[in-house]
Amino acid sequence: MKKLKILVTYFSQTGNTEKVAKSIYEGCQGEDVDLKPIKEVDPSELKNYELIFLGSGIYASRVNQALANLVSAATELPPKFIFFYTHASKEPYQDGFKVVKRKIGDSSSIIAEFDCCGDNIGVPEAMRNTMLERLPPEKRKEAEEHQNWLKGRPNEEDLLNAKKFAQSLINKL
Ligand SMILES: Cc1cc2nc3c(=O)[nH]c(=O)nc-3n(C[C@H](O)[C@H](O)[C@H](O)COP(=O)(O)O)c2cc1C
Repeated sequence: MKKLKILVTYFSQTGNTEKVAKSIYEGCQGEDVDLKPIKEVDPSELKNYELIFLGSGIYASRVNQALANLVSAATELPPKFIFFYTHASKEPYQDGFKVVKRKIGDSSSIIAEFDCCGDNIGVPEAMRNTMLERLPPEKRKEAEEHQNWLKGRPNEEDLLNAKKFAQSLINKL
């Protein structure tokens, strides 16, 4: 059977989304798949792929601008995109890819999204603790619980989920 031409590309400031990207890449083994940080992708390459996994961390409620820039600069887009992102919040973000979606418009289908938690390692531990200390006791407990729950994410289970997500999607295509 003909192999699917797939690109997994991502922006990752502190490494969490990069881990997820690598797991998605593993899930795509058996296909003709490339893995690249977004800064290494030439916009003219996008047309060579049938499917692109496009990922980023969430920063101030949005994915990094590099994603929209890449899509805008492409001469031709692939038929299918899948978005993935990591975030420190408990709830996923509905609007993180808003600008990217607008840029893609009706040119391609966005066939799925994957999200998982990513530890907020961009904020040094000492600063996080100072922030916790400033909270009133009831809020502090909640914030501490959240911080513990986030620790080390994406963990092995998150990464396995990312891999399985990619595998099951590809099997359906
Ligand atoms: C500057 C900055 C802003 C962030 N803003 C948010 C935010 O608005 N919402 C959120 O859930 N997480 C936020 N985070 C946490 C990141 O989304 C999370 O740690 C993510 O896994 C980072 O991905 P990366 O390691 O691939 O850069 C922020 C992190 C940084 C460093």
